[in-house]
Amino acid sequence: MDTKFKDKYGDWAIITGASSGIGVEFAHQIAEKGLNVVLVARRKELLDSLAAELSAKYKVECKILSADLSKDGFQFDILDATKDLEVGLLVNNAGMNCEGHFYRGSLERNLQMLQLNTKAPFILAYEFGKQFISRGKGGIIFTSSISAFNANPYLSHYAATKAYILSLAESMNYEFKDKNVDVIAVCPGMTKSEMTKGMKDGPMLMEAAPVVKITLDNLGKEAYVVPGFLNKAQVFLSSRLLSRDNAKSLSGALLKKVLPATNKKKKEN
Ligand SMILES: NC(=O)c1ccc[n+]([C@@H]2O[C@H](COP(=O)([O-])OP(=O)(O)OC[C@H]3O[C@@H](n4cnc5c(N)ncnc54)[C@H](OP(=O)(O)O)[C@@H]3O)[C@@H](O)[C@H]2O)c1
Repeated sequence: MDTKFKDKYGDWAIITGASSGIGVEFAHQIAEKGLNVVLVARRKELLDSLAAELSAKYKVECKILSADLSKDGFQFDILDATKDLEVGLLVNNAGMNCEGHFYRGSLERNLQMLQLNTKAPFILAYEFGKQFISRGKGGIIFTSSISAFNANPYLSHYAATKAYILSLAESMNYEFKDKNVDVIAVCPGMTKSEMTKGMKDGPMLMEAAPVVKITLDNLGKEAYVVPGFLNKAQVFLSSRLLSRDNAKSLSGALLKKVLPATNKKKKEN
């Protein structure tokens, strides 16, 4: 239990993308601080078992909401399900990627990603931000990425969605500060989750737990955080030491090597 955190961001937190990866870790660490949680994702069975685990372990209330955030109008179910709850924290974490050469993903998949990674978090931040401002307290967390800091050929559209999120979060952080509403973006590098399943373990692949801890520790202090020394060094190199043009060329050369999908014709999932 973290009384200070609960007073500022309780009684309830909404966590999107709570069925796997970083979202599961957000759910654990937020419930551990004593907040009740609304868990949102599409896979209901995963949310059910997480809710059972959290309520047994941390003695908090859990609600689950199976929703596809890439569909128009998704917010109405969330607003309806939470209308009688005092929501004080929104974690806009759900996301998907579409990596590889520019035409690898279908237009449909790209538009689904655009809606899930940008429009959905914007809509939720808009709606719950209003409630937080009128209550005079609250917090909003956005999951961006280190790919937000420079152009990333072969990750072009995904990185652009994450740049949108970082810019939105930083500006909201400034505007909402004097309303006592804290906004932060977390910009992880490669982190263990379903998104990175199959990637070789190594120093570049972080666990989700420290990513989430750094985020929660810095809510109310920073506008964004980059977890991990190697990720910080990468951001420093690409956004401070190199020109935008050189950062783009370096990212393009590296990603072309690293991402198998840039070279092979691969059926998308
Ligand atoms: N892992 C990394 O290396 C990394 C690095 C930087 C940023 N990120 C960001 O971190 C966030 C979390 O991703 P993760 O790494 O934890 O990957 P993950 O394990 O694949 O989790 C993605 C989450 O988003 C949910 N989701 C996907 N499509 C959805 C939809 N249409 N509607 C509702 N929920 C949906 C998934 O749940 P369902 O499938 O059950 O719907 C899942 O809970 C994402 O925003 C991602 O871009 C990840």
